[in-house]
Amino acid sequence: MRAIVQEEYGPHREVLRLCEIPSPVPGPGQVLVRVRATSVHADVWHAVTGVPYVLRLMGSGLRAPKQPVPGTDLAGEVVGLGPGAAAFAPGDRVFGEVTARNQWGNAGTFAELAAVDETLLARIPETLSFEQAAAVPTAALIALVNLRDQGRVAAGQRVLVNGAGGAVGVWAVQLAKYFGAEVTAVDGPAKLDLLRALGADRVIDYTQQDFTRLGLRVDLVLDIVSQAPFSDVRRALEPDGTFVLVGHDQYGRSGHRVLGSLRRMLPLMALSPFVKQLPGVRPGPPRRENWATLVDLLGQGRVRPVVDERVFPLEQAAEAIDYLASGVARGRVVLTV
Ligand SMILES: NC(=O)c1ccc[n+]([C@@H]2O[C@H](COP(=O)([O-])OP(=O)(O)OC[C@H]3O[C@@H](n4cnc5c(N)ncnc54)[C@H](OP(=O)(O)O)[C@@H]3O)[C@@H](O)[C@H]2O)c1
Repeated sequence: MRAIVQEEYGPHREVLRLCEIPSPVPGPGQVLVRVRATSVHADVWHAVTGVPYVLRLMGSGLRAPKQPVPGTDLAGEVVGLGPGAAAFAPGDRVFGEVTARNQWGNAGTFAELAAVDETLLARIPETLSFEQAAAVPTAALIALVNLRDQGRVAAGQRVLVNGAGGAVGVWAVQLAKYFGAEVTAVDGPAKLDLLRALGADRVIDYTQQDFTRLGLRVDLVLDIVSQAPFSDVRRALEPDGTFVLVGHDQYGRSGHRVLGSLRRMLPLMALSPFVKQLPGVRPGPPRRENWATLVDLLGQGRVRPVVDERVFPLEQAAEAIDYLASGVARGRVVLTV
């Protein structure tokens, strides 16, 4: 099969190659998926470059990636079943985040075929194309978990999403509206119309205004781009409000080379027992349940994927990562296979 392969960590332009490699064979409880679309996202950049180094200790491989084919998200058709796999039949359209652990490693979706645990997949709602379906998994899961479990968003609250026009932000805005919140969305000027269309009640252009200096008071700040120090963000938070840091290294431009966003997160975690606005880690339901929740909301049309207008073919994976890192994408950057 054709696949994008990386044998070492490094700049994506240098380490990603289109190759012919053996097709995977589905193991017990796995299905073989003919991948039709996959997505490029910030964690793909991390997994390919191997930066920050701490991510290599989290299971992706110390010196080189254990799994040489990048990608965590897929949408495609079932074409084969491993022993004991019974949830799907050949021909079913399925999608999911197929990494067994976290999103910061390769999971083999930049390929024509992927062998995937069936528990990580769901049927694609009929209204969605493969490209739209591939734009859902990792980003929507991060948004749901951080907003609902970490942020404990509630109806009537005022929520501010910083970095709202990116892959995770577009889900955070829609989900916050779904949970009944009043939403302020912060991003650059080219993304503000999209954010209004997704339901944001108020938009702020970060190139013109600093949301921490506008006299705003909100109940929850979901900070995806994570540039302002917490001491500044606090000015915009109610005393009993909540700050959730998602963490963004801006493709190596702002994160620490060894620790990445952890350098910012760890001090906040240390402070959390003493500062009400910092909730610490709040575990939520397992990913399988979260995925089912999202698929349900998609099926009902309560939320929708946003696919950037530029869709790239698989062989242009490196170009797609460049495009993503340039910051011009609105919503998810998708690769077709
Ligand atoms: N905490 C967790 O559970 C968890 C788990 C997995 C991954 N993550 C991390 O979550 C992050 C998700 O990011 P994403 O995929 O949504 O990124 P993205 O698609 O790159 O979007 C980031 C958005 O922020 C905007 N932006 C840049 N600077 C800004 C500023 N100063 N103020 C406001 N907006 C600004 C960008 O617009 P312009 O560039 O056009 O200005 C862009 O629209 C990734 O870094 C990933 O590593 C977190």
